[in-house]
Amino acid sequence: LSNDTVIVVSNRQPYRHRYQQNGEGESTITVDRPTGGLTAGLDPVMQRLNGTWIAWGDGGADRDTTDEDGKLSVPPEDPQYTLQRLWLSDSDVNGYYYGYSNRALWPLCHLAMGNTEFDSEQWRQYRAVNRKFADQVLEHTTDDSVIWFQDYHLACAPQLVRSQCSSDQFILHFWHIPWPPVDAFRACPQHQELLEGLLGNDLIGFHVSQYCQNFLECVETLVEHADVDYDSGRICHGGRETVVKAFPMGVDADTIKRQSTNVPESMWQEFKNEFGLASDLRVVLGVDRLDYTKGIPERLQALEHLWAERPEWRGDFTYVQKGSESRSEIPAYQQLQDRVSTIIDRINARFGSDDWQPVIMIGEKLPRDTLCGLYRYSDVALVSPLRDGMNLVAQEYVASQIDDDGVLVLSELAGSHERLGDAVISVNPYDTEAHADAIEQAITMPEAERRHRSRRLRRKVHNNDINAWLHDMFDTVDQLRGNTGS
Ligand code: G6P
Repeated sequence: LSNDTVIVVSNRQPYRHRYQQNGEGESTITVDRPTGGLTAGLDPVMQRLNGTWIAWGDGGADRDTTDEDGKLSVPPEDPQYTLQRLWLSDSDVNGYYYGYSNRALWPLCHLAMGNTEFDSEQWRQYRAVNRKFADQVLEHTTDDSVIWFQDYHLACAPQLVRSQCSSDQFILHFWHIPWPPVDAFRACPQHQELLEGLLGNDLIGFHVSQYCQNFLECVETLVEHADVDYDSGRICHGGRETVVKAFPMGVDADTIKRQSTNVPESMWQEFKNEFGLASDLRVVLGVDRLDYTKGIPERLQALEHLWAERPEWRGDFTYVQKGSESRSEIPAYQQLQDRVSTIIDRINARFGSDDWQPVIMIGEKLPRDTLCGLYRYSDVALVSPLRDGMNLVAQEYVASQIDDDGVLVLSELAGSHERLGDAVISVNPYDTEAHADAIEQAITMPEAERRHRSRRLRRKVHNNDINAWLHDMFDTVDQLRGNTGS
């Protein structure tokens, strides 16, 4: 990638500035890292690539921390690349982010058809915001740029950029969520425009081959005059070629290992004290954004079933749910939050005692080392999405297991199951009884088996880390550019 300028383009920014009131009524500016696999995964990548990252500046103090063009150098403590913030109006945000992206595309791609809303005004705003992103990209583009779009918020932008730049610029897109089968995708009234927007890319990456297959079938069925070759993943359309390929994403395993190594056991005892957990109590952990795709009610129901049917486990462990609020302006998310609280209250009332609380919910943001400590010292992690593009929490948990004694229970419906499936305890989150059995198997697993599985998992996660992902993808970029040039 020498001499190239990589321009990453995503909706979510990696660093957000906000005002915080202190005790004396004055405000100071704080910086935080928004929750989510995309920004957590790409920030270390950009620290290696340098370049520019274009994203929506959504923080209250964002405008006061950038130059007059909306730029700043990040990470704030050790600048490595440029963050170019893009400003959106409230109406843009409602139509594009809370609207079409998260009420149409997100549920559609996760096959949550009951939550989809296809509103033509929101679609217009989605397209208009994609135009704003495309214009911003064009301002940064130089002859050798590699333009790298991220995710479902920006499906129209590649074609908009393509139509205004030369063929020297390489455009790729990584789609971080699942791609649905054609019979679901065709329900979307804008299916043709979305596919044509994405065909402005030279390369489109998905986490797993099934999503590539689904995408190719959508193009073949729904786009006129498109030629699809399933073996090579090549699509010819409008005199151009787009390649579709699976690049399963990894995590920054070495950094997580280091962070986890640095968390002393005393921190874990302090954490237990703070949340009223007895020092010898075992902890089963869940770490999720509060999203209806994550299978949190299903997981809680499995725990409830276990404690109801096998009372010997009452008082043996507490389930700690780290749950960050997400997209709360959308009714489906508010309903999910209410549902989770209701189930937790019911479980705690049903089984709790004076000295044992079955479920603890942690809503506040935790410092990175506390999260690593939770991963490292908890006994079991439950990752049970109903559908998930990859799920990087599962891989972060594995990378934190430096003592090789944690057990991962993982949904068969998460993309990461393709890589980790043969060394985890697999669950179908819709099957409450089997899910409860899986949790019991995890908490009773003998030490030798725990260690054996953990070592295998760690090897997989380290061998397929974020650097391997990046190399794999950019090797493909180099090959395709070589081909284009020849
Ligand atoms: C998923 C999406 C990301 C998104 C993240 C957090 O991982 O693939 O694009 O950034 O969720 O969601 P949010 O809506 O807060 O950005």
